[in-house]
Amino acid sequence: ATTEAAKNPHDDVLDIAHRGASGYAPEHTLTSYKMGDRMHGDYIEIDLQMTKDGKLIAMHDETVDRTTDGTGKVKDFTLEQIKKLDAGSWFNEKYPQYANPRYEGLKVPTLEEIFKTFGKNKKYYIETKSPDVYPGMEEALLRLVNKYDINKDTLLVQSFSKESLLKVHELDPSVRLIQLLSYKKHAVLTDQEAADMKKYAVGIGPNFNYLDQAYVQTARQAHLDVHPYTVNEATDMQRLIDWGVTGMFTNFPDKLHRLIKEN
Ligand code: G3P
Ligand code: CA
Repeated sequence: ATTEAAKNPHDDVLDIAHRGASGYAPEHTLTSYKMGDRMHGDYIEIDLQMTKDGKLIAMHDETVDRTTDGTGKVKDFTLEQIKKLDAGSWFNEKYPQYANPRYEGLKVPTLEEIFKTFGKNKKYYIETKSPDVYPGMEEALLRLVNKYDINKDTLLVQSFSKESLLKVHELDPSVRLIQLLSYKKHAVLTDQEAADMKKYAVGIGPNFNYLDQAYVQTARQAHLDVHPYTVNEATDMQRLIDWGVTGMFTNFPDKLHRLIKEN
């Protein structure tokens, strides 16, 4: 057993595999999520979109254009049509240094397949994307969470939409929520803003590039977790750890793992 004295003080910093180990493999594929696991990511980060026939799938964009060989809006595709798309070859073309023939022809996973693959005790960090485009997505998410008996002690649901988070909260107050935030210039957080978000969220997820130590301290004083996104360089990771963040999203979970171990 690890003694308290030997315990690394940064072991608690969460390593969130952003879209899986998406620096190395096509984002939001089972391959990318499994790689995130192997690289010691604590959480799998999943963005949700919803098909025409109401199935939740893992995809970042509202259209399939960037991450598959198809074109068009997710909401105009049935799941059967989505499943015909190649969600891997684009990566090989865009990132030849990480290309792998195994990525060709990878499929877009449904949330249901992800839960079946990784089980109820995997740590899932799930984002409701474009909830205004997909009425009912929160209900669909919670239905699957309950169907697969997903461990709610570790589940996190995140969104830029406060409305979507409040809907999840209303449907199931036991689900822990993260308010995502996007700053376009120097980020300032007041005690009042932090206290307001603490009423419904356990933490916040701001973009990392405009933060400073005072921001992180204000959030921590309000007992909010702070999980900045998307941090891919070791120098940025180290600075944020020094400021007291409690985790971060990264496309390179192995890099963050090494840094946490070295600290
Ligand atoms: O969910 C954290 C971060 O991923 C938010 O930005 O656009 O990458 O989903 P985005
Ligand atoms: Ca996300």
